[in-house]
Amino acid sequence: MNPYQRVVILTGASQGIGRATADVLAQAGCKLALAARQAETLEAVAAALRQDGHTAIAIPTDMGNPAQAATLAHKAAAEFGKIDVVINNAAIGVRDSVLELQVAEARRVMEVNYLGPLALIQAAVPYLKANPDGGLIINISSIVGRRAMPGIGGYCASKAALEKLAESLRLELLADHIRVSTVYPGVTVTRFNDHSLGSSQHGRGRVQGVPPERVAQAILKTIRHEPRDVFITLFDRAFVTASALWPGLMDKLLSGYLKRSRK
Ligand SMILES: NC(=O)c1ccc[n+]([C@@H]2O[C@H](COP(=O)([O-])OP(=O)(O)OC[C@H]3O[C@@H](n4cnc5c(N)ncnc54)[C@H](OP(=O)(O)O)[C@@H]3O)[C@@H](O)[C@H]2O)c1
Repeated sequence: MNPYQRVVILTGASQGIGRATADVLAQAGCKLALAARQAETLEAVAAALRQDGHTAIAIPTDMGNPAQAATLAHKAAAEFGKIDVVINNAAIGVRDSVLELQVAEARRVMEVNYLGPLALIQAAVPYLKANPDGGLIINISSIVGRRAMPGIGGYCASKAALEKLAESLRLELLADHIRVSTVYPGVTVTRFNDHSLGSSQHGRGRVQGVPPERVAQAILKTIRHEPRDVFITLFDRAFVTASALWPGLMDKLLSGYLKRSRK
């Protein structure tokens, strides 16, 4: 769809990929309902966009709370009179081996990354159905939702859950002209690992990867062209494809790589 004047709900908009996406979508003419937990930081993002002549409001929301996730949809629709696009971007990680995973942390990750997005989708769909153009739901997953990696199994499981939900949803909403896309970033330079739950320190601190602006541009392209699945780099696509075609070989390659990287 043409992004101009589209009403977009964007979660996790206060930093990282979400912050970069807010800038890119605002410049494309979207009207933004921005969500994250830290109200002051979020309001500062919305205020900066408004100062540049864009339309953006801040709706502080804990996506780990399904009632708040649903309220986000209602508030956005009340403010703008419709919803065109819902982007489930907010998420947290958990860095622990499967055996060390704390149940409370695994549950929190599922609440923020899966149950919150589910509640937001359920609340937003009636508005999308009432929209003459239907609407678009974009879930930000990860390549590790398609090929899990050791040490972050709890996070991979939450992303895989969201991806499977999207697969069902896409077909369930076909007749209502509501489209569903999933974006699979690979490693992206944000503070995501520092924000992750879990006790393992591996992978925290500085990261190498693509800048968040590149993912933001891919999200804008997703609004324009509505592809089913979106990869950011050729490497990400090759990684997922090879994992599906030769899972045993990838197990061997990844275990060798991880042993070397942890020495
Ligand atoms: N960075 C990567 O390498 C990478 C790779 C693949 C996929 N991804 C995915 O890309 C998305 C964005 O990640 P990122 O790297 O930009 O992460 P980030 O820099 O840690 O930013 C996370 C954003 O989500 C918000 N958030 C966290 N918990 C929340 C909650 N309970 N309710 C509402 N908002 C919440 C944070 O704001 P508050 O703290 O104020 O709530 C922040 O705005 C995530 O879905 C992540 O899984 C990231």
